[in-house]
Amino acid sequence: MATPPSSAQDTLKRAVAAAAVNELKHLLDSRTVIGVGSGSTVNFFIEQLAEIRHDFDGAVASSEETAARLKAHNIPVYDLNGVGTVPFYIDGADEINERFEMIKGGGAALTREKIVAACAQRFICIADQSKRVSVLGGYPLPIEVIPLARSYVAREMVKLGADPMYRDGVVTDNGNQIIDMYNFMIEDPLTMEERINNITGVVTNGLFARRGADVLLLGTPEGVQRIER
Ligand code: 5RP
Repeated sequence: MATPPSSAQDTLKRAVAAAAVNELKHLLDSRTVIGVGSGSTVNFFIEQLAEIRHDFDGAVASSEETAARLKAHNIPVYDLNGVGTVPFYIDGADEINERFEMIKGGGAALTREKIVAACAQRFICIADQSKRVSVLGGYPLPIEVIPLARSYVAREMVKLGADPMYRDGVVTDNGNQIIDMYNFMIEDPLTMEERINNITGVVTNGLFARRGADVLLLGTPEGVQRIER
């Protein structure tokens, strides 16, 4: 079957993936373990990372899907508990603002993404220009919840002004459920991240403000912009 032509957005995703590999390849050695996120931009990154797989030791994955893709490219996958910290974490975003705070979790991998990001010395966000926003919230904010708490958390989020919608049929790698917050613009991501995490039954929310990105590789039609915080 013929490969479908890639969209303009995919072209930008591929370009930022290549830029990330290019940046990393000078910084790796045979003991380096890299943190790898989830999503379509990261999938392009994994393809290109495979070309330099002999230049580093292996990776920690933020989802079962990423782990499977890494293994399929013969990149060893380690348990984060045995690795401790990773020097680099490479991941995409659903939205990123000027302070490099993000909404993540479109692929339902937010909790493990947040854990690996917390253990990373440097978070390199790879994103096409459609992800850059001035205020977070145009993209519905995902919240991972313990299934028993789903309705309770949704009611609490209505009180905060959101329109929650259950992501039907999705079970996270941790066995939990996702509710997405629509019509919920977030002026103060750090405060909101902590406030939502304080609702009983919330496992994690998709605001990455406490641990945002350090570097943004942004794909534009004019080329990849590298912006450091
Ligand atoms: C998955 C994520 C992804 O990083 C985010 O959804 C961006 O995905 P894509 O690269 O496919 O646009 O947070 O949980």
